[in-house]
Formats: sequence, C-alpha cells, structure tokens
Amino acid sequence: MTIIAIDGPAASGKGTLARRLAKHFNYAYLDTGALYRAVGLEVKRAGGNAENEQDALNAARKLATLNMNDPEIKSESTGGLASKVAAIPAVRDLLLDFQHRFAEKPPGGKIGALLDGRDIGTVVCPGADIKLFITASVETRAKRRFLEQFGPKGSDGEYQSILNDMRQRDERDINRAASPLKAAENAHLLDTTNSDIEAVFEQALQLISDRLTTA
Ligand code: CDP
Repeated sequence: MTIIAIDGPAASGKGTLARRLAKHFNYAYLDTGALYRAVGLEVKRAGGNAENEQDALNAARKLATLNMNDPEIKSESTGGLASKVAAIPAVRDLLLDFQHRFAEKPPGGKIGALLDGRDIGTVVCPGADIKLFITASVETRAKRRFLEQFGPKGSDGEYQSILNDMRQRDERDINRAASPLKAAENAHLLDTTNSDIEAVFEQALQLISDRLTTA
C-alpha cells in the first residue's frame, strides 16, 4: 500500500495534479476539500451558520448522504463556507474518520491512495510514503479560479472579489488552531506560479518514482 499526500492553498493546482497522478498510478483519489465544501453548503441550505458548531456538526453527520457533485460545490462562496466549518475541531474529527478509512482501505481494491487537502501530510496521513506541498502566489491562484468560474469574459470586479475571498480563506486556513494549512517537515515543495500543469506533473512523477524505487 502506498499513500501520497498532497497539500496546499486554494487553487494552487493540487487538485488537477492529484487527479493526474492518481490516474497514472491507478490509485484511489480523495479530494478532502470536497468533504468540507459539502458540509459548508449543507449548513447554508439548512439555513444555519457555518461558524456555529452545532449547525456545522448537524451537517457533517449527514456527510454520507451529501452530493459531492452539486454544481454549487466548486464556487468560491462555498469555499468560504468550507473554511469556516473546517476551523471547528469537532467537525474535523468527524471527517478525519472518513479520511482514515479511505487511506487504510482504498475503495475498489486499489493498491494505493492519494489524498489532497490542507492537513494530509501533517494530520490525516503523517506516515504517508510521499508528501507534496503545492503553492503559487495568491494573484496567480485567484486568476486561475477566476478563469475557471467566469471564463475570459469575466470582469475586473469579479477578479477582485475572488482575490479578496481567497486572501480571507488563506488567512483562515493558515491561522486556525485546528490542523492549520502547513507543509509537513518532510514535504517536497512545488511552486506552480510560473509552471504549467504539465511541468509540475513531470516533477511530481519524478519525485514519486524515485521514492517508490528506493522504498
Ligand atoms: O479547491 P480549493 O483548493 O479552493 O479548496 P478545497 O481543497 O476544496 O478546500 C476548501 C476548504 O476546505 C479549504 O479552504 C479549507 O478550509 C478546508 N479544508 C481543510 O480544512 N482541510 C482539508 N484537508 C481540505 C480542505
């Protein structure tokens, strides 16, 4: 069993990289951000407050029934709700069980698991075989999310609003007490500010292949 942990801030490119690596190695992939997003969205739909522990826990308990493919799940406003519920330790504990089960016994009988998020290398899978930490400047990340959501016709105001939301989310994720966003000591750092996904994929592939052959 091989476990790969990928962490990094919003829109750093970790999701795209994780999907490609999981496909390449035929490992099971878990986007852990989608779990927090689904919980954040459910709190809003239930008319609750994402910073209220009871409201967030009620939503987190429904995790197994939530729709991870909901079209609203990817929006930056759902990202903001996700980072609010993610700051609540009791919510993190509930979601941790789910993530541990996935890593210990990947679905589909796969021989490896790849998880991406904020605390995979530090808290969820501290013993992971390989840890990557993906970063990029906040302007680059906001630009990527803006193009994803609004396409080439988006306005400058829409870009500024995404940039502001992302700065706030980074701030919450880095400074929270429970499992803050942080590179594990033994993580490999990859900066995607000036590299396209292909170059980052090749770099990651090399690191993982070296690690697997020396293991
Ligand atoms: O896709 P993007 O990089 O924008 O974010 P995401 O990975 O979907 O995560 C959404 C939010 O969930 C983050 O801003 C974190 O607050 C939270 N999260 C977390 O706390 N721990 C994780 N392992 C994954 C996500």
